[in-house]
Amino acid sequence: MTLFDVYPINDVTIVKAKGSYVWDENGEQYLDLYGGHAVISIGHTHPHWVKRIEEQLEKIAFYSNSIKIPLQQQLADKLGKISGKDDYQLFLCNSGAEANENALKLASFHNARKKVIAFTKAFHGRTSLAVSATDNKNYVAPVNETDNVIFLPFNDEQALEDCFEENGDEISSVIVEGIQGVGGINVADEDFLRKIRQLCDKYKAVYIADSVQCGYGRSGKFFSHDFAGVNADIYTMAKGMGNGFPVAGILIAPHIKPKHFQLGTTFGGNHLACAAALAVLEIIEEEKLMGNAVMVGKYLKDELESIPELKRVRGRGLMIGFDVPEELKDLRKNLLWNQKIFTGEAKPNVIRLLPSLALKKRDAEDFIEALKEEIQLLSNGQSTEESRTINAGMSTESVGK
Ligand SMILES: Cc1ncc(COP(=O)(O)O)c(C=O)c1O
Repeated sequence: MTLFDVYPINDVTIVKAKGSYVWDENGEQYLDLYGGHAVISIGHTHPHWVKRIEEQLEKIAFYSNSIKIPLQQQLADKLGKISGKDDYQLFLCNSGAEANENALKLASFHNARKKVIAFTKAFHGRTSLAVSATDNKNYVAPVNETDNVIFLPFNDEQALEDCFEENGDEISSVIVEGIQGVGGINVADEDFLRKIRQLCDKYKAVYIADSVQCGYGRSGKFFSHDFAGVNADIYTMAKGMGNGFPVAGILIAPHIKPKHFQLGTTFGGNHLACAAALAVLEIIEEEKLMGNAVMVGKYLKDELESIPELKRVRGRGLMIGFDVPEELKDLRKNLLWNQKIFTGEAKPNVIRLLPSLALKKRDAEDFIEALKEEIQLLSNGQSTEESRTINAGMSTESVGK
């Protein structure tokens, strides 16, 4: 049997990971500024996370939601405290798409309306309604096509107002990332988010804050939407929530009331997932990782802004993106192969940094040094192969250990 080939992949096999580092099968060390796509929040294989999962595994890993699972309440209490949304309700599921799917569905149950407003360059996941609200035709199968989703330009308050004026009574929800991830690290303007809040209040629509990538402390606040100083009605969470253990959830404002059987899940909120998610929150709190994200993120942004070849450095905390000009298009590849540094990308020319929130300043400094070196090599007109040869042997030193 072959694997279904859905992604182009890097020719690397990672066999070990610790903190912000991963190692391949040949023992080569890589600095991980990609975090397996913004998933690694507290650092790979954090000892507390490993211990909590191991201990839970010895007791019970799974039972369905037909019985009491006190760990779910513990997780809800901790989430309420750290996020500041302690009057919200928690529904647990398994992935980002599922979180958004449930949020959109719950909004529609709540106000008995059908239309969803989403924005250009949005990515909300691969399931049916989440993908319909995703602005990429390649991901949308004919069966997912619907007239229920209206796309508006991101950060355009006037377009939003016009749309509500025209269709206000039909709009069930507005779904928006606080910082677009897959779309290339585009920060939602605070005024724009406040406008969404205001219009949702006026027209009784539900404001859904997709925090799957930009949430969980990555921006320096628990939810990046919090920068606007207004609350959403539903926050969706996944990626960083389990530090790699599949767990996701939605936080639901108190005025949205539950009804039996409207939402449900077999695996969501199982004992093991709750233990992993609790371990993550305990470490975020204990190691003050949101503060670290602000501090190391600021250092990175300042340094990146001082490199003239890089354009439009943007983002918040440890969710940073910058444009790479055409003549440096091999930069990301060279960082990986020459410097042994993983970074993320967004098509066509954006490098995305999505490291662990525990990234050390020393590692960030090593990255900046390595980045400057690669920019210099590419600017001197050296090809990938030439620069790889030149850098052979010095790669691991230059990213620090
Ligand atoms: C903002 C956002 N929403 C939803 C998703 C979907 O999450 P998942 O892949 O866990 O289904 C992603 C994944 O990249 C995302 O970035």
